[in-house]
Amino acid sequence: MSKIKPSKGAPHARILGVGGYRPVRVVPNEVILETIDSSDEWIRSRSGIVTRHWANDEETVAAMALEASGKAIADAGIAPEQIGAVIVSTVSNFRQTPAVATLIADQLGTDKAAAFDISAGCAGFGYGLTLAKGLVVDGTAEYALVIGVERLSDLTDLTDRKTAFLFGDGAGAAVVGPSKEPAIGPTVWGSEGDKSETIKQTVWWSDYRDDAHRPERFPAITQEGQAVFRWAVFEMAKVAQQALDAAGISPSDLDVFIPHQANMRIIDSMVKTLKLPESVTVARDVETTGNTSAASIPLAMERLLATGEAKSGDTALVIGFGAGLAYAATVVTLP
Ligand SMILES: CC(C)(COP(=O)(O)OP(=O)(O)OC[C@H]1O[C@@H](n2cnc3c(N)ncnc32)[C@H](O)[C@@H]1OP(=O)(O)O)[C@@H](O)C(=O)NCCC(=O)NCCS
Repeated sequence: MSKIKPSKGAPHARILGVGGYRPVRVVPNEVILETIDSSDEWIRSRSGIVTRHWANDEETVAAMALEASGKAIADAGIAPEQIGAVIVSTVSNFRQTPAVATLIADQLGTDKAAAFDISAGCAGFGYGLTLAKGLVVDGTAEYALVIGVERLSDLTDLTDRKTAFLFGDGAGAAVVGPSKEPAIGPTVWGSEGDKSETIKQTVWWSDYRDDAHRPERFPAITQEGQAVFRWAVFEMAKVAQQALDAAGISPSDLDVFIPHQANMRIIDSMVKTLKLPESVTVARDVETTGNTSAASIPLAMERLLATGEAKSGDTALVIGFGAGLAYAATVVTLP
């Protein structure tokens, strides 16, 4: 017989507030065309991207995360001291130690909240959300803050015509807290490490260090576009369906679909495969935000709520997928 008392958590968890931050500088496709041989028409038709935001020197990973978090906390109507855990998902913070989450927890004014970074690429928000739900239901934290933040412009090779137009910068945050009824469904998640070479950093930091006189070797994110595209279209629609099934939701029960904002053609294809009715609002933030990896889902969610395209209480399917190849899909009630 165990002597350990059971944890006392909330019966369920929900997203209570979201916030986003997009860098001031808007970068149209014309700027991308200065360094690659392409056309505005090609970029629009193959990716759906028209503009993206690139951060300036002041818009650091921490600064963008703080802005988004402040808005999410205000939206949730709680005080920073009530936050028991800060989870930051990022692959583009250039100082690995200490975790940027610890600085954010301090600067937000939390009461020494537990804080850590996770690396799950474009699945990062879903991974963080799943951890946050667990913490709230377990009682380890009454409220948890999940942040997805990227400065992918730092890791983009502007001469690589396969990726130069894809990536953007920004931050999205969500406060997760107690709920009387289920509002974050079971997560369907996983990783396919056998395919992990299809999205990767070109050069190891250690190799760059040992060859530092060749700045052109600075690491960037590269990908095998077609292989990733096929995987996303075929495999991720199945995962999305599994998340609907796990939550006991049929496509006609759904109000909103917020897939990772990687490529408009992937989004359109998933909508078709899932046979989503026209009544479902689909996030298409990629058009003006580009692919912001871990930040893409909370940024898209925040925009749909801010524009009134989605409303509080709506049932939304969120699915992130990317480097790893890691993925996570969940049905949530919007804050
Ligand atoms: C990157 C991506 C937009 C490229 O589109 P694509 O249709 O697969 O393009 P391909 O690589 O097959 O190239 C098609 C043709 O366009 C050309 N091309 C490639 N990049 C180009 C560019 N920037 N401008 C103009 N032409 C380009 C290629 O040379 C090729 O020409 P060819 O047919 O004469 O050989 C697409 O593969 C994609 O979105 N992949 C998934 C990205 C993604 O979701 N990543 C997730 C990360 S989380």
